[in-house]
Amino acid sequence: MAVAVGKENYVLHKLHSLSGIVPVGYYVVQHLVLNSFTLGGPEKFNAVIGFFESMPKFFLLIMEVCAIWIPLIFHAVYGIFIVSRAKPNYFGSVYGWSQNLMYTLQRWSGIFLFFFLMIHVTTTTGAKYVSGSAKVIEYAAWHEKLSSAPYIWLVLYILGVAAASYHLAYGVWNFSIRWGITISEKAQNQVQKFAFGMFVAITLIGWGALAGFLIPQKGTSGEGQSQVRLESAPSSRFIAA
Ligand code: HEM
Ligand code: HEM
Repeated sequence: MAVAVGKENYVLHKLHSLSGIVPVGYYVVQHLVLNSFTLGGPEKFNAVIGFFESMPKFFLLIMEVCAIWIPLIFHAVYGIFIVSRAKPNYFGSVYGWSQNLMYTLQRWSGIFLFFFLMIHVTTTTGAKYVSGSAKVIEYAAWHEKLSSAPYIWLVLYILGVAAASYHLAYGVWNFSIRWGITISEKAQNQVQKFAFGMFVAITLIGWGALAGFLIPQKGTSGEGQSQVRLESAPSSRFIAA
């Protein structure tokens, strides 16, 4: 059955919808792909961190504010506004039950992501700027955090990745309808299959990134860590010698 998406608050709703795909959705996909470099070992992940840290500080900050923070804050705040105005509609609706459940789940995943991102961004980028050092976001810090009992961080990240992936994948399907890209039932069904594949792929990439912090490999132990630093900092090689 073809589904029509409501058009209340037209311009802001359209902007909200677009911001979910670009830049927010695009950012999250490339972010998880880059994080999955953990599967190549600590040096590969730290090299990604090093790449961003090697950019001129003001340029990095402007890029973060314009390309990530402003669109994300707009999407998050307007998203909460949409949720606060929504009525639960998956019981006794003219639409299929599962269709409406999926729609409701997208809104709940948005609320979860709001809190997840407050914790995540404060403890990564926020902590980096406050401490004045990128050590807090390097491989060793992640390994320590995710492998510590009772594994609250690990559970939070497993859920955070799945929620972001579901929210984005279902969003792509909804976006295609809202923007008139998929009109026929057949087209909507095809995009639904694509969105499902996207959900599985992005979740696996994100979980792969997490696994990369946990799988024992060269560089995870204290000895390995110093090898990583020696490779990336010639001056400490001199001191160590
Ligand atoms: C595998 C799980 C994840 C890992 C290892 C991870 C890692 C990181 C790291 C290292 C940073 C700091 C970047 C910097 O300041 O240079 C960061 C920031 C950030 N992450 Fe994640 N992240 C993960 C999942 C997510 C998810 C699921 C989302 C979206 C829902 C997300 C959104 C963000 C945002 C918005 C920032 C702030 C970016 C900035 O201001 O530069 N992350 N993350
Ligand atoms: C930070 C907390 C977030 C909140 C509160 C939130 C909230 C929402 C809500 C309520 C909707 C449904 C809008 C509607 O029914 O018309 C939505 C749609 C969407 N969101 Fe989010 N979201 C958040 C984060 C994210 C993130 C991190 C991404 C990317 C991974 C994202 C991507 C999308 C997409 C692509 C849509 C579909 C747009 C459409 O329906 O046309 N959102 N968001």
